Amino acid sequence: MKLSIFAVTAALASVVSAQSKRGLAYPWFNEGENIDPGRFTNGGKVTWMYNWETWRPARTPAVNFIGTQAKKDSAASPIGQLHNRWRQQGWTDVFSLNEPDFNDISPQEAVDWYLQHINPMTIRKGLPAVTSSTDAGKGLDWLQNFLNICNGRCYHDYINLHWYGSNISQFKTHIQNANRRFPNKKIVISEFSLVRPATQAQQQSFFNEAIPWLDAQGYVIMYFPFVATSPTLLQGNDGAAVDHVGTGGALFNNDGTVSAVGQIMLR
Ligand SMILES: *[C@@H]1O[C@H](CO)[C@@H](O)[C@H](O)[C@H]1NC(C)=O
Repeated sequence: MKLSIFAVTAALASVVSAQSKRGLAYPWFNEGENIDPGRFTNGGKVTWMYNWETWRPARTPAVNFIGTQAKKDSAASPIGQLHNRWRQQGWTDVFSLNEPDFNDISPQEAVDWYLQHINPMTIRKGLPAVTSSTDAGKGLDWLQNFLNICNGRCYHDYINLHWYGSNISQFKTHIQNANRRFPNKKIVISEFSLVRPATQAQQQSFFNEAIPWLDAQGYVIMYFPFVATSPTLLQGNDGAAVDHVGTGGALFNNDGTVSAVGQIMLR
């Protein structure tokens, strides 16, 4: 009985997903706060959501939830629970390893882990999410090394990229480079934003151009601006993110309404 319910959920989910590439990167600290994802997801413009964890947020209305095993194992997202949680929570997709190229996980170590834990999952699967660093061995190089070691054995539906930088042309160049390097792969961008000292107005103009451009690129199948929270909650819970990107890209205002940047996701 349970299985057939999940099968129906999955069928509905794939209908919804065809309508939009847009998703919410929704941090854990939104739980219990005035951050209602329904402001984005109820109208069908935004159809995806993830929280860098393998537990499903209390509020996931009309949305496809993507679980993330961000580390090889963690207290909040125990690797031993990954498969139970995916089945019980009805995920459509799984994201794996968050920025392994910056967290000292070698491609070989990641491949061994991926084959054991992610390969057996029968939902859509994202390869480890790499940074936009162009340092040797990081970013797209790390991903290339990972794929070389996999040698066709790592089942996946798309590659997963993060990008942080200074301007829209740099962003487009990075995504186009990834497409040139991995021409047969679909691309998901699970974090992207300008870095400090970008103001909210500069973030607005960046996302104004980035979002329609991403919608027009056939090889991009999902994207998630950083980040679906408010400036105050980001400041209170993720100082490292504030130091790196500031708060101008927040999709919510402090009073819980949709920010000027957030409005772009609803066009
Ligand atoms: C975009 O940023 C890059 C890297 O900082 C810089 O080299 C380039 O000149 C900038 N382009 C524009 C159009 O501002």
